[in-house]
Amino acid sequence: MTAREFYGPAFDQLRLAEKQVLGEVRQGQKTWRDQGRSSPVLYTSSRIKSPDSMRRKLLLRGCLPTRQAALTQVRDAVGVRVICAFQNDVYLVAQWLEERPAFVVLETKDYISYPKENGYRSYHLILGIREGPGKGTTVEVQLRTIATDFWASLEHQLKYKREVPPRRAHPGGTAPVRRRDCLGGPVHGDHPGTAGGELLRDGLSGDAAAANKSPAPRTPHPAEADPGESGRLRWPPECQGWSSR
Ligand code: GTP
Ligand code: MG
Repeated sequence: MTAREFYGPAFDQLRLAEKQVLGEVRQGQKTWRDQGRSSPVLYTSSRIKSPDSMRRKLLLRGCLPTRQAALTQVRDAVGVRVICAFQNDVYLVAQWLEERPAFVVLETKDYISYPKENGYRSYHLILGIREGPGKGTTVEVQLRTIATDFWASLEHQLKYKREVPPRRAHPGGTAPVRRRDCLGGPVHGDHPGTAGGELLRDGLSGDAAAANKSPAPRTPHPAEADPGESGRLRWPPECQGWSSR
C-alpha cells in the first residue's frame, strides 16, 4: 500500500506541511545569506512516514494500525531533518524555526545538551502548523550535526543487526524534554488527545500553548532492517524514504 492510499485525503496536507517547514528552513538560509553570513544548514531531508513504519509504531503503542489513528495518535507522520556542520548551528536553526509565527512548538527534546546513554545527540522539535498551507498538521523536525547524522544512521542499523535491545534514555532521570501542548495538560509521548489529530480537527491556537516539563518515556525503536541476500545492508524503513535536498 502506498502512503497516499494509507493516509487518504490527508496525504496532500501532509505533503504541504513538509514543504512548508522545508520552505521556512530555506527562508532562514536566504536571510542568513542576505546578512552576509554563511548558512548554518548543510542539507535537509524529509519524509512522510511509510505505512509499514506507521502501523508498527501504532501497534507498539497499543493503537489500531489505522489511518484514523495515524492522523490522531502520532505527531511524526511528517518528518524533516536539518543537518548542520556544528552544534551552535543546530541551535541557531532550531531557534529560527521556533520563532516562526506560523508554527507553535508543541515539544522540544534536546538530546545535544542531554545526550542519550547510547551517545545519540540531536535536537527534536514537534511543530504544530497554525498558519499556511500545512495548517493543522504536526511535523517532527530533527536537527543535528553531520557527524551525528552519520553516526545515527549506522547506530540505527547496528541496533537491528546485533539485535541490541533499545536502551532507556537518561540515567538518573534527567530528561531533555521541554514540552508544550497547545491544547493544555501534560503530554507524555503521542497520547490520545494531544496528537496531531486534534490539530487537524480543531486547528491551532498559540495562546493555549502551556509549557510543562515531563520526562519522556522512550519508545523503543523496533529493529527494522534486514541484510539483503548479498550481505548488503538494506536501510530499515525508519531510514528509508528520506529524500535529501
Ligand atoms: P517516537 O515514538 O519515535 O516519536 O519516540 P519518542 O517520542 O521518544 O521520540 P524521540 O524524539 O526520542 O525520537 C524520535 C526519532 O528520533 C526516532 O524515531 C528516531 O528517528 C530518532 N532517534 C531517537 N533516538 C535515537 C537513537 O538513539 N538512535 C537513533 N539512530 N535515532 C534515534
Ligand atoms: Mg516522538
